[in-house]
This record gives sequence, structure tokens and C-alpha cells, in this order.
Amino acid sequence: MGHSLGCVLLTGSTGYIASHTWLALEAAGRQVVGVDSLVNSSAVVLDRLVSLSGGQPKHFIKGDVRDAQVLDACFDLAAKQGRPITAVIHFAALKAVGESVEKPLEYFDNNIGGLISVCRAMERHGARTLVFSSSATVYGQPERLPITEDAALRATNPYGQTKLIGEELLRELERSDPRWRIGWLRYFNPVGAHPSGQIGEDPRGIPNNLMPYVAQVAVGKRTHLNVFGQDYDTPDGTGVRDYIHVCDLAEGHVAALRYLDEQQRSLTVNLGTGQGYSVVDVAQAYERASGKAIPLVYAPRRAGDVAACYADPTLAETLMGWKARRGLDDMCADSWRWQSLNPQGFEG
Ligand code: NAD
Ligand code: UD1
Repeated sequence: MGHSLGCVLLTGSTGYIASHTWLALEAAGRQVVGVDSLVNSSAVVLDRLVSLSGGQPKHFIKGDVRDAQVLDACFDLAAKQGRPITAVIHFAALKAVGESVEKPLEYFDNNIGGLISVCRAMERHGARTLVFSSSATVYGQPERLPITEDAALRATNPYGQTKLIGEELLRELERSDPRWRIGWLRYFNPVGAHPSGQIGEDPRGIPNNLMPYVAQVAVGKRTHLNVFGQDYDTPDGTGVRDYIHVCDLAEGHVAALRYLDEQQRSLTVNLGTGQGYSVVDVAQAYERASGKAIPLVYAPRRAGDVAACYADPTLAETLMGWKARRGLDDMCADSWRWQSLNPQGFEG
């Protein structure tokens, strides 16, 4: 059935998760058009993607998804090649929690304005299959662990609000017109990199998230890891999360699109492993993978953090036949390969 499928538009296509998904889609035989403003990514990603796919050219438009003309240009580009866009994976968003508290207008404008603009473009071009990058952040402080998709939803910061409102906006859209097929994918904590070490996460400035920070300690850019809190109600007192390899996550998007096309129904699923690891577990696994010491300095809790957050990933497996295959050691080994081959990131 692959031959009858149209092109997939990836918004935020040079970003961390989208770049890995681009390769996974091509490996599954799908054509891709990418769009990104490069507000949080580098055009060098495109060169890396070309070489990782054996020289296959990449169709990419630089622009902001809030600009209708930019999106129309993406649809036109695909149509001209005889393979119209039939589905969109909407990754483009700003994602720094702390920054969202300081700049709420920017976050709502970009993340909600961007989503509305994408849906309108899809309606103009008659494409109504959409996958939305949601987050475990929509569960707020979870009442029960592991977290199932029917858990209560709440946002605890402006970034989380944009994901929750985005989810709700799409539910109304689906209700208004049953031709929409929507995949609400709630990612847990994406980490790791492509096993080639050629693409990976390249945060600007001081990393907010754990694994990129640990990677910079291992490579010698930072002296130690600040462990935010050691008195949580967890086995070793440090925060527990469900880390998922970005390549497993990428394959989850391919599975979700397949489900939407074949089942002709919408889908809401967690994308996680179901396994929780503490901050200390991650630091120790990274030491094993890199052969470098990760000195720990215990620091106060970070505002807004929860003790533990991990998925029940059963529904994704039941519905889409997808589950995460890669473990914490793979995540650390692949992160380390990316980090040590590219100590200055893409622009280095
Ligand atoms: P990322 O910042 O690497 O990728 C997002 C991309 O979108 C960037 O390349 C950025 O330049 C682009 N972008 C942002 N606003 C844009 C706009 N208005 N127009 C065009 N391009 C724009 O982040 P990521 O980690 O790959 O995240 C991808 C998606 O997944 C986001 O929606 C994010 O909220 C969501 N998500 C990420 C995580 C995570 O931990 N990384 C967890 C849950 C959900
Ligand atoms: C963060 C975001 C969340 C987002 C998720 C995935 C916050 C408050 N939440 O969550 O909205 O969906 O990333 O991108 O930013 N840690 C340290 N030292 C560090 C960094 C982190 O000890 O330098 C700890 C944290 O306290 C936490 C764990 O490591 O226990 C993971 O942190 P992080 O990678 O930031 O992810 P989340 O807290 O899950």
C-alpha cells in the first residue's frame, strides 16, 4: 500500500526529533518535505540527512509555519513532484519550560498560532491527517503510575498549556469534521541520537534537560552535574523519568501514520518505554558508555519538577504494534557518539 501514500510534511523538520523521524519515514518508503524557521536548529542537519540516506536529496523550505505562504509553498513543492502532501507531522514548537514562563506571549503565539496556521493550510489543500507532538507534560503531577492515556490532564506552566490547548483544539477540529485523522502522541523523555553519531540533540546555551547536560560533563564542557533534589519519594531520592531513545520515538511516528492511514481512525497514545530511571541511574549509565566520570553535586529541587513520571506504553503496542526496543545503555552510547564526534554541535 506504500505506493499509494502521499508525501509527509514535517514541520520543525531540522529539529531534534523531526530529523530522526525524517530518516525513519524515508526508510519506510515515504517521501518527505520539511519546513523549519531554524529558530532552534541548524541547516547543517540537512547535509547530514542527505549523507545518511546515501545522497538522496532533501526537499526543504526555510520559513515560519505561522506564515500561510510558506506552508502553501510546501504543498506546491510536493504537488509539483507528483506526490501531494497527504499528512503532516507537526513538530514545530518552542519547548523550554523556563523560557515559557518568562515569555508566555511568544510561546502561545508560536505554538498555538503555528498549529492553527498548519490546520488551516491542511484544509486549503485537502489534507486531513495530522500527527501532533504532545508531551507527558500534559499529565502534570500524575495521580497514578505508570501513566495511562485516560489520566487527568493539567498544565503546570505556559509551555505545558500550549500542549494541552493544542490537544483540545484538535479534538474540537475532529469533532467539527470527521474527515480529520489525528494522532495525539505524548512523548515521555526523548534522549540519545542516531547510531551514526551524525545527528543528535544540539541545545543552545546551557542545557535544561538531563542527558544533554550529562553529555557536556562527559565531554569536558561542564565540570559536574547538579542533581536537582535528593529527597524525592523514589528509590534513591532523585527524580525518575521514562527516557526513550529518539530512534524508537521516530519509528513511533511511522507507526502512527500507518495506523491513521490504514485504520482511518484517530489515535491518542503515550510514547515511552514504561521503565523509569533516576538521575543517578542515568549518570552511572553515561559513565559506563563514555568511560568518563560524571561528578554529582546535590542541589535543591527544581521548581515544577515531579518525583516520578513514566508511561504505561501498552496502548501504543496494542493499537499500532509499536514498542520501544532500545535500552538506557543504547541511549547513552548513542548520545556519547554524537557528543564526542560533534563537541560543538552542528555549527562546530
Ligand atoms: P527542537 O527545538 O529540536 O525542534 C523544533 C523545531 O521547530 C526547531 O527546529 C525549530 O527551529 C522549529 N520551529 C519552532 N517554531 C517554529 C515555527 N514557528 N516555524 C517553523 N519552525 C519552527 O525540539 P524537539 O525536541 O525536536 O521537539 C519537537 C516537538 O516535540 C516539539 O513540539 C516539542 O514541544 C515536542 N516535545 C519534545 C520533547 C523533548 O523532550 N524533546 C518532549 C515532548 C514533546
Ligand atoms: C522537562 C520539562 C518538561 C518536558 C520534558 C521533556 C521542566 C520543568 N520540565 O521535564 O516539560 O516535557 O523536559 O523535554 O523543565 N535534572 C537534574 N539536573 C539537571 C537537569 C535535570 O538533576 O541538570 C533532573 C530533573 O530534576 C529530573 C530529571 O533530571 O528529575 C529529568 O529532567 P529533564 O531532562 O529536564 O526532564 P523533565 O524534568 O522530565
